Amino acid sequence: MDFDGKVVLITGAAGGIGKETAKAFAEQGAKLVLVDLQEDSLNKTVSELNLDGGSCLTVAADVSKEEDVKHYVDSAVQKFGKIDVFFNNAGIEGKIGYITDTDISVLDQVLGVNVRGVFAGLKHVLKVMKDQKSGTIVNTASVAGFGGSPGLASYVTSKHAVLGLSKTAALESADYGVRVNAVCPAPVNTRMMRSIEAGVSEDNAEGAKKEFEKGIPMNRYGEASEIAQLVLFLASEKAGYITGGAYRIDGGMSAL
Ligand SMILES: NC(=O)c1ccc[n+]([C@@H]2O[C@H](COP(=O)([O-])OP(=O)(O)OC[C@H]3O[C@@H](n4cnc5c(N)ncnc54)[C@H](O)[C@@H]3O)[C@@H](O)[C@H]2O)c1
Repeated sequence: MDFDGKVVLITGAAGGIGKETAKAFAEQGAKLVLVDLQEDSLNKTVSELNLDGGSCLTVAADVSKEEDVKHYVDSAVQKFGKIDVFFNNAGIEGKIGYITDTDISVLDQVLGVNVRGVFAGLKHVLKVMKDQKSGTIVNTASVAGFGGSPGLASYVTSKHAVLGLSKTAALESADYGVRVNAVCPAPVNTRMMRSIEAGVSEDNAEGAKKEFEKGIPMNRYGEASEIAQLVLFLASEKAGYITGGAYRIDGGMSAL
C-alpha cells in the first residue's frame, strides 16, 4: 500500500485511532492534514510521530461546526492542492446512561460531532474529490452501528447514522470515481474505552473491561494500529472495486 505523494486528511487525528492511522499513512509516504479540537494536542501528535512540517499540516477545528469543516478542507487544498484520502474519524462517546436517565442534550452533543461532523466533512471533501474525479473516504462507524448497547443510546444512534451516510455518499459519488466506505471496530484500546468503562462502572472500570472482553471471541480489545491497517487497505488502490461497504473489525463478534 503505497501512498507516496498522496494527501491524506484525518479528523480526530490527535486521538487513539487517528494518531495510529496518521503514523501508518506517514510510513507509506503520505502527506498529512491532521485535524483535531486543540492545536496543542495536534502539535504533540506531530512531535510524537516525528512528522516533518513540510509534509504535514495541522488544523484546529471543531467538526460539529460547518465553518470549521470548510476551513480545514480549504486549508488542505491551499497547502497541497488536492485531497486523495479522507479519514472522517473524529467522534465522542457522550455521557453513559440509560435513555430514561439521560438529558436530551447528550443526544444533541453526540449527534453534533458524530453525525453532523461526519456529514459536513463528506459535504466539503466530496466537492473537492468530485472535481478531481478521484479520491477515497473512510468513515469511522463502529460495531455500535449494527446493534444496540445499553447505556450508549446516543452513540449507537450516531453510528447507525454514519453507516447510512456512508452508503448514501458512496452512491452519490461512484460515478465520479470516488469511493466511500466505513470501518466498524469493536472496542479498541484508546481513551474512549477507558471513558466508557468508567461510565459503565465508576468503581470497577477494570471489571467493566473484563466484561466487555468476555463478549469478544478473541478475548481482547483491538489495537488502534490494527484499525489503521484496515483504513489503509480501504483507502488504497488494492480496494479499487470496494465502495459503499461497512467493514467490521471485531475480534470475531460478528460470528456470534
Ligand atoms: N475506541 C473504541 O473502542 C472505538 C470503537 C469503535 C469506533 N470508535 C470510533 O473511532 C473514532 C476515534 O475514536 P478513538 O477511539 O480514537 O477515541 P479518542 O477519544 O482517542 O479520539 C477521538 C478524537 O476526536 C477528537 N474530537 C472529538 N470531538 C471533536 C470535534 N468536535 N472536532 C474535532 N475533533 C474532535 C478528540 O479530541 C480526539 O482526539 C471515533 O469516531 C469513535 O467513535 C472507537
